[in-house]
Amino acid sequence: MEISCEAMPKPIVTFVCENCGTQRPKWEGQCSSCKEWNTLVENSDSIATTGVRAWVSSQTSTLKSLSEVTFDDAPRLKMSLSEVNRVLGGGLVAGSVILIAGEPGVGKSTLLLQIADNIAREFGGALYVTGEESLTQVKVRAGRLGIAGERIQILQGAHLSDVITNLDNAQPSLAIIDSIQTMHTDDVSSGMGSISQIRECTQVLIQWAKVNEVPIIISGHVTKDGDIAGPRVLEHMVDVVLQLEGEGVSTWRQLRAVKNRFGSTNETGIFEMTDQGLLQVEDPSGMFLAERMHGAIGSAIVPIVEGTRSMIVEIQALTNRTSLPIPRRLATGVDNNRVLLVCAVLTRQLGLSLSDQDVIVNVTGGIKVSEPAVDLGVALAIASSFKNSPVAGDLAVVGEIGLSGEVRRVPNIERRFSEVQRLGLKGCLAPAKSIKHDEAYAVGVPVSTLREALTKVLP
Ligand code: TYD
Ligand code: MG
Repeated sequence: MEISCEAMPKPIVTFVCENCGTQRPKWEGQCSSCKEWNTLVENSDSIATTGVRAWVSSQTSTLKSLSEVTFDDAPRLKMSLSEVNRVLGGGLVAGSVILIAGEPGVGKSTLLLQIADNIAREFGGALYVTGEESLTQVKVRAGRLGIAGERIQILQGAHLSDVITNLDNAQPSLAIIDSIQTMHTDDVSSGMGSISQIRECTQVLIQWAKVNEVPIIISGHVTKDGDIAGPRVLEHMVDVVLQLEGEGVSTWRQLRAVKNRFGSTNETGIFEMTDQGLLQVEDPSGMFLAERMHGAIGSAIVPIVEGTRSMIVEIQALTNRTSLPIPRRLATGVDNNRVLLVCAVLTRQLGLSLSDQDVIVNVTGGIKVSEPAVDLGVALAIASSFKNSPVAGDLAVVGEIGLSGEVRRVPNIERRFSEVQRLGLKGCLAPAKSIKHDEAYAVGVPVSTLREALTKVLP
């Protein structure tokens, strides 16, 4: 690709919201679009179409009838990292751009190097652009991971036109940009890491990926609130957004799809951070249950469904007399609002006096569960701790709880039961309405209300 360097016209100064990407002619303290405070920053872009930008605008598209489009148009590169394949919906789609977001130190660069190694060995070369670390630092990491890297080409630098030229020459099977916040282009006059730089660089990379049918994975930092640093707009531009998450000092890592144009967003991949990098955990249920104490108080096991996978997680709860005027409710791994709801139902419908108790709920292994099907597990774990008695019979439990204390139906009950059976658990309390008269539902123990569930397992 030729990049011409014509003189840049006078920049036009506008202000852009770092949260939602809205442009304003004047600075405002609060963004009038998304209502966030102090998010407007100066954006002195030239509106010129020079350099890399000109190349982007010169790309033309041809008209095709939808019926002519075949699935071969989007071939997938399947890696031996099956957990990553799963989250992507079956492998890397050629020409797609994937953003991996996560807090610093969570393991993005580690995962990216492992992916690069996988693709390089199975499909030819990979090009790894490191904008943050030196070549030696990457080499040290590769050493820890046992990656020799003959077919991984590595480029240190952050200049977009450099990256594009090298991509054009190398024509790799996969390109990795670590990280997008370090890339910059001369087409935009604002500083490195600014919203306009990030947006511009991403746009050019997307265009290159589509034209050359090569997938590009870019990494991005998240802010302390968990948002992708800088622009939300980045999320709208790329095809796939993956989040790599881990709780505090835990070695478990969860890779989840937040957006996926080529598959479901319910999928999660589970990894463990070890001395040799991220190891896939193919049987998380087995791992989580192995650490569980038999007959533990304040513990409930719940079969959850995440995309195509079902797994068993342990919910732990601890109730403790509070020393504060207002008792605390602390939830890790489950939605705080669900815990508030469950506490309210336990107090009002079942007379458990939680009003002077701090309640702490935790999903072990740092796993985050978003489905309401864990409600019953949360309720029984809290009740078990409060009554100081374990959930009887080592039963698994699943069900959503309504405000009147009813146990409501949950989806995919057959898959949950088969996981319960696979792990050799005796049975599973489940919403009566979800259980059918069928062999596959044999482990199910029907309950219609929370009161009924409590009498069954916490008499
Ligand atoms: P890194 O991939 O550099 O994180 P990010 O790119 O998201 O900032 O991972 C950094 C952490 O991972 C670091 O604290 C050390 C740890 N780590 C291991 O525990 N084992 C390993 O094999 C590697 C490479 C890193
Ligand atoms: Mg990194």
